[in-house]
Amino acid sequence: MFTLFPEWFEWLTEQRHVRNALATGTRIECVNFREHTPLGAGQVDDTPFGGGAGMVLRVDVLDSALRARYGTDPVRLREDRRVIALTPGGRLLDDELASELAAEPALTLLCGRYEGFDERILEHFATEQVSIGRYVLAGGELAAMVVCDTVLRKLPGALGHEESAVEESFSPALQGRPEYPHYTRPAEYRGWQVPEVLLSGHHERIARWRHDRSRERDDSGAGRDAEEGPGG
Ligand code: 6GU
Repeated sequence: MFTLFPEWFEWLTEQRHVRNALATGTRIECVNFREHTPLGAGQVDDTPFGGGAGMVLRVDVLDSALRARYGTDPVRLREDRRVIALTPGGRLLDDELASELAAEPALTLLCGRYEGFDERILEHFATEQVSIGRYVLAGGELAAMVVCDTVLRKLPGALGHEESAVEESFSPALQGRPEYPHYTRPAEYRGWQVPEVLLSGHHERIARWRHDRSRERDDSGAGRDAEEGPGG
């Protein structure tokens, strides 16, 4: 994790599924690129050529920070590992990308601030850009934490029950569909009944019911993409 705010990630590493992943040998290391800037006074950004608002992270600062951490030219580094720059316009994070990243032995995440990265960072040091949605955050840190959260929980041993990540929303087990509804005690509350089938103990009927509900939610969009209508 390359960031100007390494202390933000302490909150993340205190979360249970993250701690579990860390206990099984996964490590999260934060590098503050301010500590590796070749410039004076901890400068990491600069005004954009051509004018305009905001500040842009400097390519020489990222070069120094990556070089200091990995002991190699960052241009070479990206041949060995995925170096992900968090940007609002990047590839949208979804379950498929999360699984892809979870299968990697190591990742590097670059968190930008201000107006973002000098384009040469994206062109020469990053292998790709990832976004968590089409809206703008003040920086990449929250997005990087979202990536970490969803990737780490896919690692073996991160969740209490091994199967709980298998048949969850958007997983291949549900053909990429949203998850079916869940209920727990009480079986009736204020007249609201838990569906009878779930109390039946009939595993096949329950499985069929769940898949039907998952399919139904997919069709209705459960609020998302609702405007698109059928086939949208
Ligand atoms: Cl990855 N970064 C920023 N700054 N804003 C975002 C984002 C990333 N994803 C959605 N919005």
